[in-house]
Amino acid sequence: MLRIITYGDERLTKRASVVADIDRIIVEFAEALTEAMHQGNGIGLAGPQVGELKRLFVCHVTGDVPRVFINPEIIQTSPTQVTYEEGCLSIPGIYADVVRPEAVTVQAWNEKGRPFKLDAEGVLARVVQHEIDHLNGVLFLDHLSEKKRERLVKLYTKRAESECASSSQPLRR
Ligand code: NI
Repeated sequence: MLRIITYGDERLTKRASVVADIDRIIVEFAEALTEAMHQGNGIGLAGPQVGELKRLFVCHVTGDVPRVFINPEIIQTSPTQVTYEEGCLSIPGIYADVVRPEAVTVQAWNEKGRPFKLDAEGVLARVVQHEIDHLNGVLFLDHLSEKKRERLVKLYTKRAESECASSSQPLRR
């Protein structure tokens, strides 16, 4: 099982590289990524979130099929922006309202090596934008005001520290 890395790991701030070949290794990686996303009850997961700095993400939004996006590019965005609450498997327990375009057109390759274009709106558009950000080393917190980001980072760090402290307690049988 792939391990999801969390906030503070510097790989989450790096730009991922283009996938040169959609070979068996990439297909198997996309499958493992999908499994890790489902396991974490997430609706999207990008390569860098498991420490693989490759331009690839998967998503599975309610009412839709699971999808794989390799070397995705947003080629069009709607002028209308909407607010939607986001979370991230790499920043567990933290949520915030983020403003982004309501709809996007994305171009990518699928796991069969075929190029496709998708008009996404609603939650799917949101996930696509959030995951492409991961490929560029950007987290949803980076879209917030400095004040709000600092407050959430403090909250996250505090919780992570207290979880760490409680897990270091001796186990009782
Ligand atoms: Ni995320």
